[in-house]
Amino acid sequence: MQSFNPPIRTLMGPGPSDVHPRILSAMARPTIGHLDPEFVRMMDEIKTMLKYAFQTENELTMPISAPGSAGMETCFANLVEKGDKVIVCINGVFGMRMQENVERMGGNAVIVSDDWGKAVSIDKVEAALKEHPDATLLAFVHAETSTGASSDVKTLCALAHQYDCLTIVDAVTSLGGSPLYVDDWGVDAIYSGTQKCLSCTPGLSPISMNEKALEKVRNRKEKVQSWFLDLNLVMGYWGEGAKRTYHHTAPVNALYGLHEALVMLTDEGVGASWNRHTTMHQQLAEGLNDLGIQFVVDENDRLPQLNTVWIPEGVDDAKIRAELLNTYNIEIGAGLGALAGKVWRIGLMGYSARADNVMFFLSALKKVLNQ
Ligand SMILES: Cc1ncc(COP(=O)(O)O)c(C=O)c1O
Repeated sequence: MQSFNPPIRTLMGPGPSDVHPRILSAMARPTIGHLDPEFVRMMDEIKTMLKYAFQTENELTMPISAPGSAGMETCFANLVEKGDKVIVCINGVFGMRMQENVERMGGNAVIVSDDWGKAVSIDKVEAALKEHPDATLLAFVHAETSTGASSDVKTLCALAHQYDCLTIVDAVTSLGGSPLYVDDWGVDAIYSGTQKCLSCTPGLSPISMNEKALEKVRNRKEKVQSWFLDLNLVMGYWGEGAKRTYHHTAPVNALYGLHEALVMLTDEGVGASWNRHTTMHQQLAEGLNDLGIQFVVDENDRLPQLNTVWIPEGVDDAKIRAELLNTYNIEIGAGLGALAGKVWRIGLMGYSARADNVMFFLSALKKVLNQ
């Protein structure tokens, strides 16, 4: 066995995206104790900067020590009780995972389905809320990474509240890449990931919950079935500095990375980061248009950070992706589920959302397609 030295890739798939060198170097700094006062101070700064990234004042805003799927599970494990009726919107892979979570928590999932590549339909959600007045939650994905479609968080949250439902929103691919206003849009519980538009490594899941959601967590009839993800316990660890008590050993160096990523986001400005993703998307879309390549998602619902395009007639999907990887060290994503073999998913997330990457990818794709 020898040390592992990964090849240098340009990551333009559905995530992870390229990690900024500043973040990698922050992660190589000396490990200190997770209850060291200096580390506790850094944890507080992470919470402050995450509030900015989510545009929220929610006191419970912190990273879960595990990837985006754990943030998803934290929201469902804490907010769903046995027998609860939850309206789950499915327009791609991650809505399906939400359904799986609801059912594993003993809840009753009512499914609102939309075609892959479409945004969640407001009309269908309203019809489901009317038909199920006993529903307690509405769950949907803001940025569906499997299709590249964005859904209307503000309208869906307002609708849910009209029918006395709380909302769980998946922002794994949207945080830092698309406009997201947790407080103004009335999101009750939200989770994300570090490996997409925050330019950080995979493995942490920022979450945020408002007081209404926390009230539901505090008043549960039964204990949360997961000890590790029980927010009543995790909050004791991520609570205010002096009161902090041991829950688990935080991934110390991974949190240095998240801290650096958030310093960079704060320096750039979250609005500027959203705009950068849009500008890069526009440049990519122009180049793809010149190559005659079509988008799957309608222009109004397109995510800038995840561009899903139809594979041109007669082109061998796997061969092109392998050629991009082996000759140019560029990774793009394959289609999933209903879209497998039919589409490519081209990510422009975080540090990957740069003009030089767009140019490099377009010229490599053109060359490979011509061959
Ligand atoms: C929309 C969405 N939700 C959840 C996840 C799960 O996150 P992770 O792979 O970090 O567990 C992903 C990952 O790609 C995602 O894109």
